[in-house]
Amino acid sequence: MSESRIRNAALRSKIMSADQAAALILDGAHVGMSGFTGAGYPKAVPAALAARMNAKHAAGEHFKIGVWTGASTAPELDGALAKADGIELRMPYQSDPNCRKRINAGELDYIDIHLSHVAQYVWFGFFGKLDVAVVEVAGIREDGRLIPSSSVGNNKTWLDQADKIILEVNRWQNPALEGMHDIYYGTDLPPHRRPIPLITAHDRIGQPYFFCDPDKVIAVIETDAPDRNTAFSPPDLVSRAIAGNILDFLEHEVKKGRLPPELLPLQSGVGNVANAVMDGLQHGPFEGLSSFTEVLQDGMLNLIKSGKMEFASATALSLSPEAAEEFNRDVALYRKKVILRPQEISNHPELIRRLGVIAMNGLIEADIYGNVNSTHIRGTSIMNGIGGSGDFARNAYLSIFMTPSTAKNGAISCIVPMVTHVDHTEHDVQVIVTEQGLADLRGLPPRRRAQEIIARCAHPDYRPALEDYFARALRESPGRHTPHLMNEAFSFLDAWKAAETRINSARAAE
Ligand code: COA
Repeated sequence: MSESRIRNAALRSKIMSADQAAALILDGAHVGMSGFTGAGYPKAVPAALAARMNAKHAAGEHFKIGVWTGASTAPELDGALAKADGIELRMPYQSDPNCRKRINAGELDYIDIHLSHVAQYVWFGFFGKLDVAVVEVAGIREDGRLIPSSSVGNNKTWLDQADKIILEVNRWQNPALEGMHDIYYGTDLPPHRRPIPLITAHDRIGQPYFFCDPDKVIAVIETDAPDRNTAFSPPDLVSRAIAGNILDFLEHEVKKGRLPPELLPLQSGVGNVANAVMDGLQHGPFEGLSSFTEVLQDGMLNLIKSGKMEFASATALSLSPEAAEEFNRDVALYRKKVILRPQEISNHPELIRRLGVIAMNGLIEADIYGNVNSTHIRGTSIMNGIGGSGDFARNAYLSIFMTPSTAKNGAISCIVPMVTHVDHTEHDVQVIVTEQGLADLRGLPPRRRAQEIIARCAHPDYRPALEDYFARALRESPGRHTPHLMNEAFSFLDAWKAAETRINSARAAE
């Protein structure tokens, strides 16, 4: 492996075991790790680090680190370090059950921030010094530049900013990834910033490799391990209905002349519903599609394969094991159709606004006025994080939020009088869609928005209660801009608590 994948002699001399490398990371370090939505995360050093943490804790010693990434990673990273109680602070996004448990138990600090902000906050010094970067790459070139792997995320920033660098060279990553990436090095600091010269989603504005100061590299580890992404559930009736409603709406917009026949670049969020929408597009009338998005999931890969999508720009490949196999098999095709960029570019507000992206993201609850909660259960417990949804929603040409109308087998309505936590304000939400229907909120004042959302998106089991709430709010505060019953706005939660607890305990017992 050393011969083919690690072609720089100086860096080849730094090959060591993951245990030896983990021993170079000290208690209290800020560690920037690669990884974005289960792709391109380091596979060996985090596990070795977790084992070291367990040993230190057993000996009564303190050993915790700050973990900064691109976005979510995998059980081998977030899961292992959280289980070992080795994370002091985590940012900017996670979706790991063990990590989530510790965050919601108050044992782990979590900063949930827009993904486009992370790199620049680190450049500005807002998070303090980055001590170590642990970055997976697909290979090292003779000149010492690095071939990125299946995600780019914040790796450029980690490599630039860290005092020390540990590289994991993963033989499992397809060597044909070389050339697919576009790493842009033109992001200056204010007040010297210039426009980013990207005019269409398929423009290349950088180079295919990361620069890396070889003197900062303290270890090189060889691995041969797959990215770990779970398979998507096949689209069910509810997600198919949501996808159908979105497709009808997009067709309507084309007929109205507000969208071109090939639409505008698509952004598709994370999760099963988002993946089902991509699947719906597969059977829809649109041709010549493109995407300017964060993660490329199975559904988008299928669109490329079938020829419906001409081009995709993302920061990571978030593929199920089967789709990853297919990607590796047909990499020659995908190389021409996919560009992977740093997340400060894939999620850049200026670019999203300029390209006129159609943003489609999931939600936990939306209120009758169109405020959206993407992150918190009952207003207090974090689920995953805001991720890139805010980067896209605020700046998109069309900002669509989608959800089943109910959660937990119908025990909870996802349309509520007032959201218990706000990630996206009514000003950033143009369309809400459930399996029941689609509320187009563009150009509507608050009271009209409420009527539309209740009538079109709420489940029939909850519609009467929401109508009653809204009617009484109108009566009690006639003429108010945004009528509410402040003493009652969260009362739905009490009715749902028992059902939610029952379902969660039954699931835990399974
Ligand atoms: N109350 C309680 N639980 C709720 C809920 C509600 N109102 N709405 C959803 N949930 C629960 C579901 O029951 C499910 O729980 P489970 O995992 O125990 O089964 C979980 O939240 C996920 O919901 P699901 O309906 O499967 O949707 P999803 O996979 O599409 O995920 C989000 C929805 C909101 C969690 C997900 O889209 C997310 O994390 N978004 C924020 C980040 C983001 O948008 N990133 C994309 C930017 S590129």
